[in-house]
Amino acid sequence: MSEILLQIDGKDVKATETMTVLEAARSAGIHIPTLCHHEKLEPYGGCRLCTVEVETRGRARLVAACLFPVQPDLIVRTHTPEVDKLRKTIIELLMAHAPDSFELLDLAQEYGADRNRFDQESSFCLLCGLCVRYCNEVKQKNAIAFVDCGAKREINFIPEIASQECRDCKECFPLCPTSYLQAAYFLTEALAFPHESNAAHALTKK
Ligand code: SF4
Ligand code: FES
Repeated sequence: MSEILLQIDGKDVKATETMTVLEAARSAGIHIPTLCHHEKLEPYGGCRLCTVEVETRGRARLVAACLFPVQPDLIVRTHTPEVDKLRKTIIELLMAHAPDSFELLDLAQEYGADRNRFDQESSFCLLCGLCVRYCNEVKQKNAIAFVDCGAKREINFIPEIASQECRDCKECFPLCPTSYLQAAYFLTEALAFPHESNAAHALTKK
């Protein structure tokens, strides 16, 4: 695999040709914030928090670092006033949905974001897709899916699958940047398969 030399924040970084800018930055110890990225999952490009400025042949533009492939002589800037302002706005928009997310509160502190800038529409799900994609790509169970579209888009557990697969798994729980996923699961469990869950609980207590 051929080696590519690029520059990130003024530092020469060696990468392999299959790497994204995010992977190259991380390999060099350079931090780029992410929300929807997970190293076990295919790049998704949903949150845009990883936006960086890249320059090729004297032309600069903003791209998602988790999607953008490395190129020879690429110049990457992970913090410019424009990049930081965009990240701050993204955090503020996300906080309108989940103002108490610890992950967002940390990011808000880092970028000076105001969690009250936008009207609250506390849906609590940030639509990062980590739960849906992890269940699909890693566990290959498809117990969680996106439903609806636009402003109504949300995640749902599929009761028929969740009742069989989720009780002993729950690997998606720690991936969620908010409390929504756990709440959605326990609501589904309570409404759709309470008997299975109570019976199993009784068995495990014996
Ligand atoms: S429930 Fe959590 S992990 Fe799943 S899409 Fe929403 S915010 Fe992301
Ligand atoms: S981490 Fe790159 S778009 Fe979400």
